[in-house]
Amino acid sequence: MLDSKEALDQIAKEVSVCTRCILSHSRKNAVPGEGPAQADIMLIGEGPGFHENEQGRPFVGAAGRFLEELLAMNHLKRTDVFITNVVKCRPPGNRDPEASELQACNDYLERQIQAINPKVIVTLGRFSMAKFLPNARISAVHGQATWVKGRLVVPMYHPAAALHQGSLRPVLEKDFSQLLELIRKAKEAAKPKDEGQNTPGKDEPKQLSLF
Ligand code: URA
Ligand code: SF4
Repeated sequence: MLDSKEALDQIAKEVSVCTRCILSHSRKNAVPGEGPAQADIMLIGEGPGFHENEQGRPFVGAAGRFLEELLAMNHLKRTDVFITNVVKCRPPGNRDPEASELQACNDYLERQIQAINPKVIVTLGRFSMAKFLPNARISAVHGQATWVKGRLVVPMYHPAAALHQGSLRPVLEKDFSQLLELIRKAKEAAKPKDEGQNTPGKDEPKQLSLF
């Protein structure tokens, strides 16, 4: 068995030469994602943009700077969290990823989640949200933590959306401000209760009432 770090390195190696979908034709660098193998929080965006494609690293452009601000407001650094995307190669001209591309790339993300086993998954934008909450509307559910297959998933607006639409900035700030409390709640829920193991919401998504 590979340990978490070895598993992540192996995934990154496969992603860097992957040709499973046509995004491989136009990419310069695939962007597997980065962060500690033991991260409590995993942030999942949409796909690499111009700068990410140039550098092979996630969220290094304007949206990334805002993301770092959102983390810093909550005493978190980008090196504290694992950051990746639902597609690892840049869609040409930053178009939306297509269903076939999301499907082709999904296995890498699944393996990353398995390797890291994060307490909290934050989805950034609708494509990432749709993987966990296929029927949800971001305007209705943003900031609401939900158990999905025993993991706490928190859908949030994409930081790039707030750069275009300033009114979303305070919304994202408020949603991010719950993060540390959510980690605490997730850790609490994961603790064995009595003799047995408590795995909340294994079967269906369930709203977590926090306050
Ligand atoms: N937007 C994303 O969704 N992902 C990145 O890595 C950068 C910008
Ligand atoms: Fe492979 Fe994903 Fe890149 Fe498509 S987007 S080529 S599936 S790594």
